[in-house]
Amino acid sequence: MRFADKVLFATGGGSGIAASVARRFTAEGGRVAVADLDEVRAKAVAADLAGAIAVVCDVADEASVQAALQATVDRLGGVDAIFNAGGHAEFGPIEEWSFERWNRMMTVHAGGTFLVCKHALPLLRQRGGGAIVNVASVAAFVAQRNNAPYGAAKAAIAGFSRQLALEAGPDIRVNCIAPGRTHSGMTEPLMVARGGGDVAKGAEAFGQGNIQKRVAAADELAAAVCYLLSDDASFVTGSTMVVDGGETVI
Ligand SMILES: NC(=O)c1ccc[n+]([C@@H]2O[C@H](COP(=O)([O-])OP(=O)(O)OC[C@H]3O[C@@H](n4cnc5c(N)ncnc54)[C@H](O)[C@@H]3O)[C@@H](O)[C@H]2O)c1
Repeated sequence: MRFADKVLFATGGGSGIAASVARRFTAEGGRVAVADLDEVRAKAVAADLAGAIAVVCDVADEASVQAALQATVDRLGGVDAIFNAGGHAEFGPIEEWSFERWNRMMTVHAGGTFLVCKHALPLLRQRGGGAIVNVASVAAFVAQRNNAPYGAAKAAIAGFSRQLALEAGPDIRVNCIAPGRTHSGMTEPLMVARGGGDVAKGAEAFGQGNIQKRVAAADELAAAVCYLLSDDASFVTGSTMVVDGGETVI
């Protein structure tokens, strides 16, 4: 019960990795605000979890972030931990990217992480400390075809997290995870396409680029995130944990 009496605010909580984190966090005694742009998804995840609430939140909108954090304080009594996973993926040759699309990518990922951290820090300080985990990607560190704006946004998050660790410490720890290919709402359509309609076949093809020759389950990422959110990681701050089945070492 590593999270007894703790409250987590998890963006992107309506799906994929953050939904798995919400499940683990509540299973270990904590309560969670499942924050998502998509209210239906957030409610569906929260409904299955004791001690969870759903809050609508567009991480790219400062007023929405403030309102969602305030709703969490009002309904759950405070915030001890933050997981910043809300986001989207878009691909394509750079010549086909409008400046508007680029800005949206940067605003949701880097901007959203900034906004949630900015407004969460005073709340964590009120509790005497806390933990933040942000989400980069292996795309922050290695080149992937047609993925430059997403990789740039994720590299910004890794850099921001390192800087923020210094500013937020010593009582608030800030870390980052860099997932490799993970089965989630974001990647399932890509797997279906790659597998010619067969998601298992697509997932198998997707997994060939790492040592373990498979994609991750969202729960495997959640295990790493919950480690970083917990006191098990009490001396870990400013780090980026790569969870990619060995993709970036080969
Ligand atoms: N799945 C992967 O292979 C993979 C790899 C590397 C990094 N990531 C990152 O992990 C994080 C979680 O992704 P996932 O794979 O669980 O995807 P997912 O699509 O399953 O979940 C993402 C959630 O974010 C929400 N969201 C999108 N825009 C938002 C916004 N502006 N405000 C609030 N919520 C918003 C969506 O509604 C969705 O519920 C993302 O930051 C993603 O970039 C995923």
